[in-house]
Amino acid sequence: ADKVNEKTVQCTDPAGQLPCPLVSPTDPVDFKPESKVTRIRQPVHLLSREYQEKYKEAVAKMKALPEENPLSFAAQAAIHQAYCDAYYKYDPTAKDAPFDVHFSWIFAPWHRMYIYFYERALGQLIGDDTFALPFWNWDTPAGMVVPPLFKDSMGNPLYDPNRNPSNVDALVDLDYLNDRNAEPIPFKGPRDEKYKELVNKNLCTVYTQQIRSGKGAESFLGEKYCTDIGSSTSSMGSLERMAHTAVHVWVGKAGPTPSSEACSAATGGFPNHTKGGYSCNNDMGFLGSAGHDPLFYSHHSNVDRMWHIWSTRLGGGQGITEADWLDTSFVFYDDVKSPRKVRIRFRDVLDTRDLGYTYDAESDKDLPWLRCKI
Ligand code: C2O
Repeated sequence: ADKVNEKTVQCTDPAGQLPCPLVSPTDPVDFKPESKVTRIRQPVHLLSREYQEKYKEAVAKMKALPEENPLSFAAQAAIHQAYCDAYYKYDPTAKDAPFDVHFSWIFAPWHRMYIYFYERALGQLIGDDTFALPFWNWDTPAGMVVPPLFKDSMGNPLYDPNRNPSNVDALVDLDYLNDRNAEPIPFKGPRDEKYKELVNKNLCTVYTQQIRSGKGAESFLGEKYCTDIGSSTSSMGSLERMAHTAVHVWVGKAGPTPSSEACSAATGGFPNHTKGGYSCNNDMGFLGSAGHDPLFYSHHSNVDRMWHIWSTRLGGGQGITEADWLDTSFVFYDDVKSPRKVRIRFRDVLDTRDLGYTYDAESDKDLPWLRCKI
């Protein structure tokens, strides 16, 4: 059970299906800030060979953990799904009040927490407490393609077959939601006119997200969570609504939506699709299945970096100042070897240094999207 604005939301799983997180009988301990920064998150496309191997080894080990371990890859994916496929109820006695970590000001801090514990678990699995979750640097031209590290299909733990084959080798389109019918542009390089055009458009999308629409904390981070918020795009901040969502849909393989009849027919109906592979092979394309693709976590590492840049360089600072937001807390599992519950509040995660990580300063020296002029 998690606390949002001092109310508790509970995971309900009437059909006995996953993915309600496993219940541990112990009470959570409070999160304690880390004493120093030991982890520097780097861009995936610039990782050394050695770091690439570490990343693969860690994810392979996480995938090999038994599902009962709340820090196994299967359980991690299930946590994300539980928080966006109506398993959590704001008030279990009231109908139609599903709880969701998307579409509101919960988005940025919740995902920061989630990938923080994921990153720590990966480090623990390879016995390296400097291991930091690499980010998919889609806001710079050289990173505007699915990173090759995730593409090799031969025994690669970072590979996921459920991606859109027409987009995996193409230049990413950060405005894909407004552009779904556009032809994919090959990731060729600056001599191609269409390539140049889309790169510029992408940079301007990031500029708009971070600067033009990033004025004001709620405009960037999202609006206050309300039980009837549904999946409304108007309550999302620009951080969630723009490049983040576009990348999800762009990577996910096209196909029937999880709620469609075609999908139910193929999977045995909601919520059975949680068993044995979810969602008509879309993975990244739908929130409920996104956590099944290892790329999700490096995508969110960059979304988190966008928040970090907004806070530290673009004047956003601590963000929202309302106590309701600052005191909202969630419980996560920490420690792969003997998982224990930790309660962590939004106010604990406003400065990444308290979480023991930061972002590679070199790749932030030149942010090409700052030069976009609209
Ligand atoms: Cu919880 Cu990118 O979504």
